[in-house]
Amino acid sequence: MKVWLATTDGALETVLGRVLGPSAPTLRTFGEPAALGAALDREVPDLVVLDARAPESGILEVAPRVRVHPLGPSVVLLALCDAPGTAATLLSEGVDDVTTSVAPAVLADRLLVCERRHVERAALAERRGAGRDAASALRDVVAHLPDYIVTVDRAERIVFTSRGGPAGEPEELVGTRAIDHLAPEQRDKVRTSFAAALATGQVQSYEAGSHGLPWSVRVVPVHHGGEVVGVTLIASDLTERRRMEAQLRRTDRIAALGTLAAGLAHEINNPLGYVMLNLTYLQRRCGEALAADPAVAWLRDAHGRLESTLEGVERIRRIVHDLRVFSRGDDGPLGSVDVVAVLDSAVNVLEGAIRHRARLVRSYAEAPFTWGNQARLAQVFVNVLLNAVQALPEGGPELGEITVSAEADARGRAVVTIADTGAGIAPEVLGRIFDPFFTTKATGVGTGLGLWICERILAELGGEIAVASEPGRGTRVTVVLPAVRTPGASSSPPVSARA
Ligand SMILES: Nc1ncnc2c1ncn2[C@@H]1O[C@H](COP(=O)(O)OP(=O)(O)OP(=O)(O)O)[C@@H](O)[C@H]1O
Ligand SMILES: [Mg+2]
Repeated sequence: MKVWLATTDGALETVLGRVLGPSAPTLRTFGEPAALGAALDREVPDLVVLDARAPESGILEVAPRVRVHPLGPSVVLLALCDAPGTAATLLSEGVDDVTTSVAPAVLADRLLVCERRHVERAALAERRGAGRDAASALRDVVAHLPDYIVTVDRAERIVFTSRGGPAGEPEELVGTRAIDHLAPEQRDKVRTSFAAALATGQVQSYEAGSHGLPWSVRVVPVHHGGEVVGVTLIASDLTERRRMEAQLRRTDRIAALGTLAAGLAHEINNPLGYVMLNLTYLQRRCGEALAADPAVAWLRDAHGRLESTLEGVERIRRIVHDLRVFSRGDDGPLGSVDVVAVLDSAVNVLEGAIRHRARLVRSYAEAPFTWGNQARLAQVFVNVLLNAVQALPEGGPELGEITVSAEADARGRAVVTIADTGAGIAPEVLGRIFDPFFTTKATGVGTGLGLWICERILAELGGEIAVASEPGRGTRVTVVLPAVRTPGASSSPPVSARA
């Protein structure tokens, strides 16, 4: 314990030194209280002993100074006095303890009491400091919440507010009437819900529009000692929720369209089967008749027309087939999947869209089969291809290039790369492109779900997706899929013939 003594009495210093014992080398003596007061600017002791026995001791100036010292909330002041009636004055000036005797035994007792008081004060100061830290951290957290929080008392005066406003900082608003800070059209609703929460003790909730934004408002009663002493109003901005709801509705619509497309494709597929059979039969018979009598002009004409009709029907068959693959969704069969065939199928579906914006380069090497669901995998490739298409300006195939390649890597995994020479992705955006609902596209063009879905599907299939991009030059998306052990042992047919 650091003890400072202010006295001109050398004998007192000796007595105190003896009482404190040899283990108290921290005793420091100042001749005048003023000198002790000056030292306080640099250091703070634990206990100050002031000799107030001389009438002009000057300790009445020093005592308050010690008491209000910002670093010294735990300093204990012990005063020595001999004039009757002085104790009350000293205590009122901030002295903690007074003794009229300098007998060693008495001093030892007083020092013990003072030391105990110092320890208690230090612990209390520490707890208060920690409490202050926690409270200010909490205030910081609340101030940065997206929600607006304000607590009022029964007279609707602000007790706490998480944010300031045009009328001032949060602290400046405390004590003012909450209603006065609201737009006139909000006042009635807020006042009614305050009154209802105060009267019933029940949470009140409603939705309102303010500053052109949708808000959800909850008014929660504040209870203290069994009574409702006020209410807390929590207003949350609903813009983001509304946007997500709209996007989910759109995704639902897309899913419904997928189901519809699957049904249509199924219905078209059956008649298409016999149309193709019959056309093939007719074309064969025409060919035979033509071989027997090559001079018949109408036969030659019919044979040619049947051939181009068959080509057209074959194209319809491929489209219908690809449509079925994409709309089958989760319930498609699980099995070993020909990655290249699925990729090619995705390219076919988007061929028309690609043609308007880019040359298409396909580069397929041998790639292993992977295990999974071909419809889900097709969804991955279509999403990535669509992004590539959308990254290029419309205006003709000479404007850009989309390269689609498939191969096996050194570990035997299937690697599919879809690269475009489009706008590219800014580095500050690259880290967010897999976030759900992150899009840089106009409303109605992108939902920001494409890559998020791709990543989830690939995670299920044990695969990975990586995107590398150079703004202004293009983007390269690489999808890696594990190989199944027995390539070719497919339990589901390949989706389409390779180009
Ligand atoms: N090939 C690419 N070229 C340039 N930017 C891309 C490319 N692929 C993705 N991006 C960027 O990543 C964002 C997120 O892509 P994602 O496919 O998840 O959503 P989206 O295409 O915006 O919308 P959605 O796919 O749901 O219609 C895009 O908005 C775009 O900014
Ligand atoms: Mg997309």
